[in-house]
Amino acid sequence: MLFQNARVENAQNLTHIRVENGLFSAISPDLLPKPGEEVVDLGGKLLLPPFIESHVHLDTCLTAGDPVWNMSGTLFEGIECWSKRKEKLSKQDVRDRVNRAVRLYAAHGVQHIRTHVDVTDPSLVAMETLVELRETLRDTMDIQIVAFPQEGILSYPNGQELMRRAVELGADVVGAIPHFEFTREYSVESLNFALQLAADHDKLVDVHCDEIDDEASRGLETVAARALELGLYDKVTASHTTAMHSYNNAYVVRLMRLLKMSRINFVSNPLVNTHLQGRMDTYPKRRGITRVKELTAEGINVSFGHDDIFDPWYPMGTGSLRDVVFMGLHVCQMMGYQEIMDSYRFITTNAAKTLHLGETYGIQEGRPASFVVMDAGNWYDALNTNAAVLLSYKKGKKLAQSTPGSSQVLF
Ligand code: FE2
Repeated sequence: MLFQNARVENAQNLTHIRVENGLFSAISPDLLPKPGEEVVDLGGKLLLPPFIESHVHLDTCLTAGDPVWNMSGTLFEGIECWSKRKEKLSKQDVRDRVNRAVRLYAAHGVQHIRTHVDVTDPSLVAMETLVELRETLRDTMDIQIVAFPQEGILSYPNGQELMRRAVELGADVVGAIPHFEFTREYSVESLNFALQLAADHDKLVDVHCDEIDDEASRGLETVAARALELGLYDKVTASHTTAMHSYNNAYVVRLMRLLKMSRINFVSNPLVNTHLQGRMDTYPKRRGITRVKELTAEGINVSFGHDDIFDPWYPMGTGSLRDVVFMGLHVCQMMGYQEIMDSYRFITTNAAKTLHLGETYGIQEGRPASFVVMDAGNWYDALNTNAAVLLSYKKGKKLAQSTPGSSQVLF
């Protein structure tokens, strides 16, 4: 199959792409159709590697308003709403919602999801269900599962044992939540435990790290130091790190050295963090988003995630990562021309590094033929016009397509 006239990742010139046996067999402006070969003329549309959701909680998604709406919109009322919803949690419930969410994502060109799953639940029902779904959805959506201790590792009964069981059940990634632990000592100890658990079982790490406006929340330095000392490096990711927004600059300059040495990844969640952080402030109100611009300038890998989709903590979301990037560029003040053009990387190549997708990802000859085609000529226009994902192919197989609607101005 030959895709003609693709603009790959904003490239100046158009190229043609041949897909055979599920792989990119050739990428060149000189390809001609073979006799009988199926040809699709993309007419200069933007072709990107598939979108990657690097941070979401599929076990809570699509539950907003069930059984009650979060009226204040705060994190704390969200927790109250969830505790009422949690009573209804069953395998079938999780299965139904995750299947719906995965299809929402697929319509928007997402082919990989890293989901955090709450393991502070002695039944581990959500973890078991996600492990099953990871298998049944394997051909359509790659799912990575983080054992996420929502209520702490040392501050929750048998927290360490639940984390070990989650890894035995098949979690791909070990999580932690240091800012939620009872004490600073527990915070450090929980990170020591989590990173050692990952090292022992050859797992990745993704920590909900300092998701708070408290400038004294310093889990990040411990995450980075352990990543360095245990030799885990870029297998480790720090998600959220919103306290970094409030750190003093002298501390950040010192911290940056360690962050670079550690080679850890960052995931920022612009929609949810902008909505939930700064809630204790009067005015001025902090934006509460980590220092994406500065981390990027230092060469540190940052990706963007949705975090929550239509649940007690975030009442919106359709699975479109374009919305995440759009918000992120605004709140991080990254609206320079080149910053806008390059920002697709937050939900593609940067996220691929975080998820350790390696050579299974990217528009290169010999790699799996997985890509999306946008209804725009470059990423700037795609972002600005909220362009549809016209086609989504995974390993040479069409997973989703859309036909953009038309509107007319009658004057
Ligand atoms: Fe999260």
